Amino acid sequence: MSTSAELSSRAAQLASAWSAARVVLSSAAGSGEGASSGGALASTLDQHGVGALGAALADGERVELQDAGATVVLTRHGASGSLRISWAEGPTYEQRVPLPGQIAGATGPVQPVTAAPVEGPLGTPVGLSALDEIDRKLAVVRGKLYDHASVPPARREGTVPAVSVDLLGDPLFLRDHGVRAAYVAGAMAGGIASVELVVAMARAGLLAFFGSGGLPLPAVEEALRSLSSQLGDRPCGCNLLHNPNEPAVEDQTVDLLLQHGCTRVSASAFMTLTPAIVRYRAAGLSLKGGQIVEKTAIFAKVSRPEVAARFLSPAPAAMLKSLVEAGRITEEQAALAARVPLARDITAEADSGGHTDRRPLPVLLPLLLKLRDELHARHGYAQPPRIGAAGGLGDPRSVHAAFAMGAAYVLTGSVNQATVEAGTSPRVKKMLAEAGMADVATGPAPDMFELGAHVQVLSKGSMYAQRGRRLYELYKAYDGVDSLPVDVRSRLEKKVFRRTIDEIWAGTRAYWAERDPSEVARAERDPKHHMALIFRWYLGMTSRWARTGDADRVRDYQVWCGPSMGLFNGWATGGRLSELSARRVADVAQALLEGAAACRRREVARALGVRV
Ligand SMILES: Cc1cc2nc3c(=O)[nH]c(=O)nc-3n(C[C@H](O)[C@H](O)[C@H](O)COP(=O)(O)O)c2cc1C
Repeated sequence: MSTSAELSSRAAQLASAWSAARVVLSSAAGSGEGASSGGALASTLDQHGVGALGAALADGERVELQDAGATVVLTRHGASGSLRISWAEGPTYEQRVPLPGQIAGATGPVQPVTAAPVEGPLGTPVGLSALDEIDRKLAVVRGKLYDHASVPPARREGTVPAVSVDLLGDPLFLRDHGVRAAYVAGAMAGGIASVELVVAMARAGLLAFFGSGGLPLPAVEEALRSLSSQLGDRPCGCNLLHNPNEPAVEDQTVDLLLQHGCTRVSASAFMTLTPAIVRYRAAGLSLKGGQIVEKTAIFAKVSRPEVAARFLSPAPAAMLKSLVEAGRITEEQAALAARVPLARDITAEADSGGHTDRRPLPVLLPLLLKLRDELHARHGYAQPPRIGAAGGLGDPRSVHAAFAMGAAYVLTGSVNQATVEAGTSPRVKKMLAEAGMADVATGPAPDMFELGAHVQVLSKGSMYAQRGRRLYELYKAYDGVDSLPVDVRSRLEKKVFRRTIDEIWAGTRAYWAERDPSEVARAERDPKHHMALIFRWYLGMTSRWARTGDADRVRDYQVWCGPSMGLFNGWATGGRLSELSARRVADVAQALLEGAAACRRREVARALGVRV
């Protein structure tokens, strides 16, 4: 028999076995058609399941069954198939389905799976908790939920689909970054977002940024080396912190990132752009077959539209020109950089742990989405840049809400500091696990102390916020440590610093003499700067004491933390993540994502009239 005669014969058998009016069976070799009186395709399919139909197909074969009520198309790709069902009066489903192996000669249903009649009684309704089983497809009839297969198609008023975590956020985020979900673990300074944390996330198919902030360059280099040797080409990233005081450090960090093939950076604290960040982006651009290849990707963390606008636009022409003139990028790279946004991923940072403007996410995110649309249209990019959400995400509802507002991806910070892999002390993790939503406060940011900048910190169990604020008040009120009232100075030395100001200055002076002698010269000229450096010694030590878990200094711990930590703790109570030992960073991510997927199913059920 010829191939098409054979396909036609099998198509006819399929038409009759599946009660389809018309069947087209195709393979790479050709196609054949069959027909029957049909009229019951939907119920036969419902009764026997797609697997039984798949058993009739060889690899690469495609079958299309048409009937009055539905059209079903199934194509086998090895052990799975792509399925499309279009109901005559209803939606179209497209899904990847697992298939049993081909059974030679099979055309009809090989194994009854369920026995749901077309009409007739419904099965038993299922509880709302079935919505949490995100792979379980449900049908809705008169405001009640049923297992999908137990409801005759004609009686279904709507369907709650399975929602896998890869359906949350922007699918292009998954494609471009080679990850399996649109979820990022943000950088945490001082290596709190440790190599171990980044590796655990990458091995789980998720993206994380190493917390290089505040670390000396050799430590950053060591981390980059370790990441590339442990992860090879798996996606991961590193923080690039703007350093206005030491531009050379920022520039050298970019050298390290490029040398070690780190192709994703999270750029933070950039109020204006610098040649270093522009160079990082331009150095990764090339042309292949007329298309721009973008090897280096920037995630820009912003909390203001004017900063977002800089990253959503191409790099400034003047900066590109100077980089070319200085021989730091090629003319081609500069020309390509003028055609793409400086950052493809912009993280809208709302009320978060650490440095934060404490903007509400429902204000910041829509604002940045609109700005993105405007700049995308103005610059005519091939693909729109993405806006992700961060700040305050600590339970499934908040993660779902961020996606529902249009976030392309979500990014968490605080909740990851209490995970097994985080580079901080067990003592800090325990304190974090006991925090409630309101157990946070703002204290001075050590790196921008003189400017009065703040960081959000844990306030339960630590006095950092109060003590730091008191130091700032003293800094504002007095010209130098020698002007401090005697009792104030003595209290500081005994209760806060636990050493004399002279001792502190001796150590601080030695530190700056090695790192940047101009700081020493300035402090010796300017008593106010001298005072700032002394106070900054304390502020710097408080985060070190926390990371090393110094038992004697618990009340001074500076632990950056946002209200999301309390949200997480409340949600995790009584569940499998309530114990600190169970909080593995990728498990936290998975639990938040699966919970968010369940929230989306609840929304669908609600829209179909289920009271959830
Ligand atoms: C302990 C800690 C340290 C952080 N350090 C940095 C940092 O060095 N660079 C940075 O871009 N963001 C840093 N962040 C911010 C996080 O990457 C993330 O954007 C933020 O925590 C998200 O908000 P959330 O805390 O509500 O989850 C830090 C956050 C925490 C909690």
